[in-house]
Amino acid sequence: MMKRPFAEMVSVGVAVPPGVLTNADLTRMLDTSDEWIVERTGIRERHIATADQSVAMLSCEASEKALERAGLTAKDLDAIVLGTASPDRLLPSTACDLQALLGADNAVAFDIAAACPGFVFATTVAEGLIASGQSKNVLVVGAEKLSTITDFQDRSTAILFGDGAGAAIVRKSTGSSGRGILSTFIKSDGRLAPLLYRPGGGSSDPISEKVVCNRSHYMKMAGREVFKAAVLAMAEACDEALERAGVTADDIDLLIPHQANIRIIEATAKHAGMSMNKVMVNVDRYGNTSSASIPLALDQAIAEGRVKQGSLLLLVAFGAGFTWGSTVIRW
Ligand code: ACO
Repeated sequence: MMKRPFAEMVSVGVAVPPGVLTNADLTRMLDTSDEWIVERTGIRERHIATADQSVAMLSCEASEKALERAGLTAKDLDAIVLGTASPDRLLPSTACDLQALLGADNAVAFDIAAACPGFVFATTVAEGLIASGQSKNVLVVGAEKLSTITDFQDRSTAILFGDGAGAAIVRKSTGSSGRGILSTFIKSDGRLAPLLYRPGGGSSDPISEKVVCNRSHYMKMAGREVFKAAVLAMAEACDEALERAGVTADDIDLLIPHQANIRIIEATAKHAGMSMNKVMVNVDRYGNTSSASIPLALDQAIAEGRVKQGSLLLLVAFGAGFTWGSTVIRW
């Protein structure tokens, strides 16, 4: 049997819309305070896209940076796997729109609906496409415009989410570089779906005046229950990815967790026995950008010199579904 690494992640690129919504801005819209938001979530501001900044456009900007850094062109891509919970349209996939924008004529393109771990799920699928011999160069994207599915009249969710996109090139392992995807782990539990979901607007309750009046096309969340489930799932995801890679938390140079809430991040680091100086945190600047959060954090960590060639990374995420997943990557 072939052995890992089948694939390596070689570059990343991001795009965030320039518009910023601060906690102070939210206090003018809702009964909340900067102090409450920072204490409960660690979030200080988030980026919000305008009506003419689509998920595909943000993805395209991020992808072009990732392609350039990998020394590839869009024509070199044979697959585009895009994780999103806020697609531009329900039909067709945002990945197909991205393919057209990039001119990636040789690629197959499809979306993954795995919510916040979308980037980890997409990386797992990319590795599988490469391991099976179907693909050599895969563009993995996590991109969101959560502001369009957030209810800005609901203070328990409006404070959490932001917009942005991240992309990475995952290519067939060269075998000699030492870098590579050393393990992946993905899991889900659909029984818990109603704790975090959008009840209306899909085919079970199609968009209608009633759906809009009830605001059921927006995300609903049982925050406390989601919080507890997230802490448990993130812990399991850490353990699984480490074990499957045959490494321990001590070997990890940087933990890059999904940026949902600083308290979930701290609990995850504590479970793994890692000090916070080995954990990437930028939830304060972007809020929860769902599938975009890990590439946004990875890109910043590279820019800050916290990820260098040879660094061992643990990426961990949890989200609606519930879904959770993780990967250990030698950069
Ligand atoms: N400002 C002020 N008060 C608020 C706000 C707000 N923005 N939101 C809620 N409150 C109030 C509540 O009404 C409640 O008041 P009450 O005690 O009078 O009833 C009180 O604060 C406590 O509410 P809780 O919901 O229990 O607060 P909690 O400490 O659990 O924090 C939070 C809420 C931040 C949402 C937390 O539960 C959380 O982070 N959950 C996980 C959410 C998450 O990470 N989701 C994403 C994972 S999946 C994905 O990424 C898509």
